[in-house]
Amino acid sequence: MKAVIYKGPRRIAVEEVPDPVIQAPTDAIVRITTTNICGSDLHMYEGRTTVEEGKVLGHENMGVVEAVGDAVDRIKVGDRVSVPFNIACGACRNCLDGWTSFCLRTNPTEGVDGAAYGYANMGPYDGGQAEYLRVPYADVNLLELPPGTEHENDFTMLSDIFPTGWHGTELAGMRAGDRVAVFGAGPVGLLAAHSAMIRGAAQVFVVDKEKDRLDLAGKIGATPVDFARADPVEQIMYATGGRGADCGVEAVGYQAHDGTGQEHPELVLDNLVKSVRSTGGIGVVGVYVPQDPQAATDAARQGRIGFDYGTFFTKGQRMGTGQCPVMRYNRRLRDLIITGRAQPSFLVSHELSLDEAPDGYERFDRRESGWTKVLLHPAAA
Ligand SMILES: NC(=O)c1ccc[n+]([C@@H]2O[C@H](COP(=O)([O-])OP(=O)(O)OC[C@H]3O[C@@H](n4cnc5c(N)ncnc54)[C@H](O)[C@@H]3O)[C@@H](O)[C@H]2O)c1
Ligand SMILES: [Zn+2]
Ligand SMILES: [Zn+2]
Repeated sequence: MKAVIYKGPRRIAVEEVPDPVIQAPTDAIVRITTTNICGSDLHMYEGRTTVEEGKVLGHENMGVVEAVGDAVDRIKVGDRVSVPFNIACGACRNCLDGWTSFCLRTNPTEGVDGAAYGYANMGPYDGGQAEYLRVPYADVNLLELPPGTEHENDFTMLSDIFPTGWHGTELAGMRAGDRVAVFGAGPVGLLAAHSAMIRGAAQVFVVDKEKDRLDLAGKIGATPVDFARADPVEQIMYATGGRGADCGVEAVGYQAHDGTGQEHPELVLDNLVKSVRSTGGIGVVGVYVPQDPQAATDAARQGRIGFDYGTFFTKGQRMGTGQCPVMRYNRRLRDLIITGRAQPSFLVSHELSLDEAPDGYERFDRRESGWTKVLLHPAAA
């Protein structure tokens, strides 16, 4: 089959690799109909992770079940499914507590709980930017979708970024009537804003400097805040009469930068601490890493981010972090899509074949205007 392979910093290729096969009786093989490029893939693409060369990328996958192992009895061949990016066993303590993103059994990497497809440090699993994908513990992991092709571009957001955006608002302790500050207008930030709105936010600020992304935020009813034009904290304080937002979501991650493009990994955390009111919650779904060999400072190279902890403590704020446990939310978010209450496909800008992936990566990585979310359709390759 064809697959997207990581070959080194800013080098990926579409190559012929062996088809995946059932390795355990609990496995399924999914024929991929849609697989997305994620902002998380860019950390690998830019050489900012320890991902090994030769890895098949892709953790945002959906498709149709092609084969199942002997022990799979809930999921059937022919089912249309969404594949959560987390690979969970369903039976360990964290999985049973609903924290499938920290499964204790699926990642053999020393000191790391939680596994994913096609990702640095997340276990030996190939990704789904390919024609087929092997899914471990298929009965546990796969989410059934209505058959056919309806809502394909909405359902494809269920594997990661719609649940992740929702999780950001959940970690922030958001309540109906809150004013919510979302930092980052990438796909995750925009779906955090969409989630906050569905959950009854009074107002949602979305902070970024990319004009096309801020325009999208405005289109879905959020208040765009351009951080390159003026201090985003001052803009949010002014708009809330000096009170600050009730809670905030971090959807940027460790490659946060200022208006000139200079990286400051602590910048968004500091801005959230300043712009969220005392006792407010902050949900950090943007990724921070324990090692970043390319970071600007010694401390940051070891994952030590010096944010304004003193003010954070003094304001009695709370912070929640980490990878999203997709399965906690994906069933309900699927049903919001089916009933028309949610439409996360609003951010799709490009639909490409697998062969066009290298070009898609390059342009999405440059945050080229108009490249907000790229979907790959392997079947069309
Ligand atoms: N926790 C999870 O489960 C999970 C899942 C998916 C993605 N992520 C992470 O979420 C983050 C966002 O993902 P994405 O796909 O939207 O990525 P993205 O790179 O497309 O978007 C990030 C946005 O942040 C903006 N930005 C940079 N510096 C900023 C600043 N100082 N203030 C405000 N905005 C700033 C950028 O201009 C960009 O538009 C990434 O770190 C990604 O790895 C986490
Ligand atoms: Zn993703
Ligand atoms: Zn588990």
